[in-house]
Amino acid sequence: MQIVIKPGRPLSGSLRLSGDKSLSHRAALFAALADGESVIDNFLVAGVTRAMLDALSACGVTWVLEGSLLSIQGSGLHGLEPPGIPLNCGNSATTMRLLAGMLAAAGIPAILDGSDGLRRRPMGRIVEPLRQMGVPIQASQGGTAPLRLAARSAGQLLTGLDYSLPVASAQVKTCLLLAALGADRASTLREPELSRDHSERMLAAMGVDVRVEGTQVVLVPPQPARLKAIQMALPGDISAAAFLVVAALITPGSELELEDVLLNPTRTGLLDALRAMGAEITLVDVHEEHGEPVGQILVRSSTLHGTEIDGSMAVRMIDEFPAFAVAAAYASGLTLVRGASELRHKESDRITALCSELRRLGIAVEEFPDGFAIHGGNPLSGGVVSSCGDHRLAMALSVAGLAAEQEVLVEGAEIIAESFPNFVDVMRSLGADASLVA
Ligand code: S3P
Repeated sequence: MQIVIKPGRPLSGSLRLSGDKSLSHRAALFAALADGESVIDNFLVAGVTRAMLDALSACGVTWVLEGSLLSIQGSGLHGLEPPGIPLNCGNSATTMRLLAGMLAAAGIPAILDGSDGLRRRPMGRIVEPLRQMGVPIQASQGGTAPLRLAARSAGQLLTGLDYSLPVASAQVKTCLLLAALGADRASTLREPELSRDHSERMLAAMGVDVRVEGTQVVLVPPQPARLKAIQMALPGDISAAAFLVVAALITPGSELELEDVLLNPTRTGLLDALRAMGAEITLVDVHEEHGEPVGQILVRSSTLHGTEIDGSMAVRMIDEFPAFAVAAAYASGLTLVRGASELRHKESDRITALCSELRRLGIAVEEFPDGFAIHGGNPLSGGVVSSCGDHRLAMALSVAGLAAEQEVLVEGAEIIAESFPNFVDVMRSLGADASLVA
């Protein structure tokens, strides 16, 4: 499937986005471990969260999804059943890494597998610390999926962990926090930089003793390991909002209002980077809901100039580099990104893929081992580009077409359904000339 974007139309309007992807994954999985029924509104219904729900079903968890309203019957860690089939995590590394932590704590045997793309993602980063806790887990050669968890004898607790993560990663941190629920004593995790902290906030709201100090988190396992059920409406996905924010900034005459967006400071790096480039972005009515900052984003088209991004900023905008690179292409002068080698381990090697596809649109780009440089401000030619099997690349390249000289055609656009199934409809509702072609 292809997306065709024709340039020239300003974007305007106000909208509320589907629930944040990271919060949707966590809400579903944590609710499965809770006591009784949890009800989660504005759940993100997309490819990656379907993979999570289906895997939970295979572990004996019952849930009902009506539109975006998810009800889950929690049965506690020890109510989970061994899945009789390999768990297919699809394209979702979050699903695989979080499930591995949950199954490790529960001590039940399972095989975790997924798409060819997921089989290329690094899993050694969870396998090694899980083993230190006594989890009988094996990766395939090269530290990748499929992952195999063997059964542990009933009642045998894991060993509490004291661990410094080599790379800041919320998926690894959450995997280990989940495993720590089944440990014999407190576990301490340290990160080189603070990655998104939704798990810490949500577990605390569910009654778990989680203590955060800077980049360190200590979890004291509850005995028995049960969590309080949750009732919450999820705020809009800031990582989906990112595409619309950049779209409005680069398309002359645009003005957008995005309501109820997740504004956790571990996720708002892109907004800070864009403001440093001259973007007119205003946050309104920022308040806390269920332990997470939420508010409205107002954005209008702006004249942008280049900026520099380093490692600590990179963690706060790790999923936003495709959108950011498009803003940089429309910004005058040089934009330099360094300290972002983690981008090579996402749904694609996002450094190489971004550089190659942006070049096809006529943008001057240099590739580094840990980042890239974009010489922006020149007209974008338009042309044919590929999603490279990466949902965020597909959406960013579509946005790039809004202010190009000619139309942009993105091949392999069906992958967008993994995280933002109604992306084209949303773009059209805001006024963009966007169409999907089979
Ligand atoms: C996520 C963490 C990040 C992010 C991913 C979602 C999460 O991955 O890129 O899209 O929900 O914890 P890493 O933990 O690999 O940095």
